Amino acid sequence: MVNKITVVGAGNVGATTAQRVAEKELARTVVMVDVAEGIPQGKGLDQWQSAPIEVYDSRIIGTNGYDETVDSDIVIITAGIARKPGMSRDDLLNTNAGIVKSVSEQVKKSSPKAIVIVVSNPLDVMCYVAKEATGFPRDRVIGMACVLDKARYRAFLAEALDVSVRDIQAMVLGGHGDTMVPLISYTSVSGIPITQLMDRATLDAIVDRTRNGGAEIVKHLKTGSAYYAPSAGAVQMAEAIVKDQRRILPCAAWLEGEYGMKGLYLGVPCKLGKNGLEQVIEVELTADERTALEKSAEAVREPMRAVKL
Ligand code: NAI
Ligand code: 2OP
Repeated sequence: MVNKITVVGAGNVGATTAQRVAEKELARTVVMVDVAEGIPQGKGLDQWQSAPIEVYDSRIIGTNGYDETVDSDIVIITAGIARKPGMSRDDLLNTNAGIVKSVSEQVKKSSPKAIVIVVSNPLDVMCYVAKEATGFPRDRVIGMACVLDKARYRAFLAEALDVSVRDIQAMVLGGHGDTMVPLISYTSVSGIPITQLMDRATLDAIVDRTRNGGAEIVKHLKTGSAYYAPSAGAVQMAEAIVKDQRRILPCAAWLEGEYGMKGLYLGVPCKLGKNGLEQVIEVELTADERTALEKSAEAVREPMRAVKL
């Protein structure tokens, strides 16, 4: 357990994230910050009142300012607007860049030693905005998206094979968008290569569904986007850091030459521990996977060039 985890944004992803953090007792105090008056206070109080039933001692506090967040160990940024039907993640670009920039400047002042996990979309570019605005090193600014994309891929595979989700091992790399790269060559079921258990057409359909997993949910919800699996993804990363688990999870990391690329955030396998990003792990890719990863990187560079810092 660390002393304090702050979640910025008390909307669907933020409030669910705060609740999960508290239920896992990852921090003594969980602070939820939002610009909407009364919302973080009301939700925080409601969540705290679930503690005697769910049995946790983490104290959730809701606020509109940063005084209560001072010296947070981890800050999870979920502030921003979410997608509506017909919107791509990049449609959110400059609105969310302004929000993430102002939030990051506050984080820099109030919690200069924090590890920042970015969730706001478009994810890879928002990580860049947060890194620039905080000036924190790359090991303390990481993004959550591939953990979610990987979870969707594993869920679809488990359903198609009628096996436990526990037994599906997989890796999804790249930017958080429809160019993401589920790695078939690293997908297995209890060590059995997926290609021995599933025909190529079914596998391709699952890869495609994974790439469009966010849009599928937006289409159902109509007024917002996914939040149960996204909050679970953010909390899995926070837990790996709080407990120094040294887990290998796919996260958006600032590349400094890995995979032959630098100067952008991209989803790659990362080792997470008490210092945040402990290591970017380079794996061998097939020629097709490398081409797909480069295409995905270009889909991140384009909005990076357009974003107003
Ligand atoms: P939401 O609309 O339910 O909540 C967003 C909250 O941010 C609102 O309560 C709003 O008042 C708050 N906010 C706006 N400006 C703020 C500021 N300056 N400071 C503090 N709070 C501020 O949206 P939801 O569903 O929670 O999504 C949040 C973000 O996360 C969106 O950008 C969404 O696209 C992104 N997202 C990213 C995922 C990923 O895999 N990386 C997955 C799911 C959502
Ligand atoms: C998702 O993938 C909207 O990025 C969000 O569900």
